[in-house]
Amino acid sequence: MSAFNSMSSPTSLLIRRASIILPNGEMMVGDVLTRDSTIVEISPQIEANSPTMEIDAEGLTLLPGVIDPQVHFREPGLEHKENLFTASCACAKGGVTSFLEMPNTRPLTTNQQTLDDKLQRASQKCLVNYGFFIGATSDNLPDLLSCTPTCGIKIFMGSMHGQLLINSEALLDQIFATGKRLIAVHAEDQERINQRRQEFAGITDPAVHSQIQDNQAALLATQLALKLSKKYQRRLHILHMSTAEEAELLRHDKPSWVTAEVTPQHLLLDTSAYAKIGTLAQMNPPLRTLHDREVLWQALHDGVIDFIATDHAPHTLEEKAQQYPNSPSGMPGVETSLALMLTAAMEGKCTIHQVVNWMSTAVAKSYQIPNKGAIAVGYDADLIIVDLKNYRPVLREELFTKCGWSPFEGWNLTGWVQTTIVGGQIVYHQGKLCTYVRGKALQFG
Ligand code: DOR
Repeated sequence: MSAFNSMSSPTSLLIRRASIILPNGEMMVGDVLTRDSTIVEISPQIEANSPTMEIDAEGLTLLPGVIDPQVHFREPGLEHKENLFTASCACAKGGVTSFLEMPNTRPLTTNQQTLDDKLQRASQKCLVNYGFFIGATSDNLPDLLSCTPTCGIKIFMGSMHGQLLINSEALLDQIFATGKRLIAVHAEDQERINQRRQEFAGITDPAVHSQIQDNQAALLATQLALKLSKKYQRRLHILHMSTAEEAELLRHDKPSWVTAEVTPQHLLLDTSAYAKIGTLAQMNPPLRTLHDREVLWQALHDGVIDFIATDHAPHTLEEKAQQYPNSPSGMPGVETSLALMLTAAMEGKCTIHQVVNWMSTAVAKSYQIPNKGAIAVGYDADLIIVDLKNYRPVLREELFTKCGWSPFEGWNLTGWVQTTIVGGQIVYHQGKLCTYVRGKALQFG
């Protein structure tokens, strides 16, 4: 990982001749001026009159930075897989300027003390902006109401063990009934998973993972979460939705206070991946069929699914090399998500403006993160310059994530980030990191 730390941090930055994707979806060739951490001018040509650093972005495209609303960065406690520094370096490379991180670290993030600890660590180590979920347990209802700042409450309805697993309807009902905060659910039915684990016991082909944690397991949990959300009109977000059945459910029954997300891997990979990359394709909820992928794409186009998250969940290659079912579930994603989606856009699967909406604008709106998710005067200068002309493969040796692998190795992608700017400061430029830059704690609501 190379760095260009000698560079002084400018208070003013002028990005010249970029193809700027504006909030209305139009593209304008012109200049963007930032001062301190804010966008102050957008115009076909800007004359800078104070000392300013300039970036020539001719032929390149300027987008608002990606906000990744579901990542697992493993610190504290699981730093052999990843930590807040390495993960945020991977973010900077992937164009992710803000992230929302999950509570299944060690200790779990379930009270003010553990939340404060994460915020403190992030302020010291993170090159990009950060926010954290608070995890629900069977006995932390007061913490779920009082902890601050947080983007919301995370409930693992399944695919979890120990304190973070909440699979009793009575307990779920109590959490949904109390307070107003956003509840984000990992929707898989643990009872069905347990039952099917017994039915498929002894099978070591990782492809069986998608049969054990099947579409029905996901649907049952999503149905329950939706029922409780409607009962109390409680703000609900369905994390990494993976099945055609859940998409069809929401297509017909999606209250205005419910949102859903999908991962690039559920859009772009399917169960055929197990034959190629084995346990590296194992995640929760599992990869599905080509039919599910197609329905998820359509749901995203139709606004049934609101935005995209990576569920970046790194495990070491050594851990992944264990035989199924001892191999852990999860795959990294922050370095490849934007290039994957922009490549899909260049293939005609969607537009660049839709990618911007799904990976930035809609996330900021949904989590009520002020002044982010668009290139507009007064907005935060979290910006990325991408190259939509050249294609380059995903190479293991170029990855910044500590786990050191990607399920997309060898994929030839475009839309790679040339420059990432966080709060008006260049944090990544042409393969090099500026490791002294620090992001800020996100505000919500
Ligand atoms: O595959 C997964 N792994 N899904 C999750 O939701 C959790 C994650 C992890 O933390 O490893």
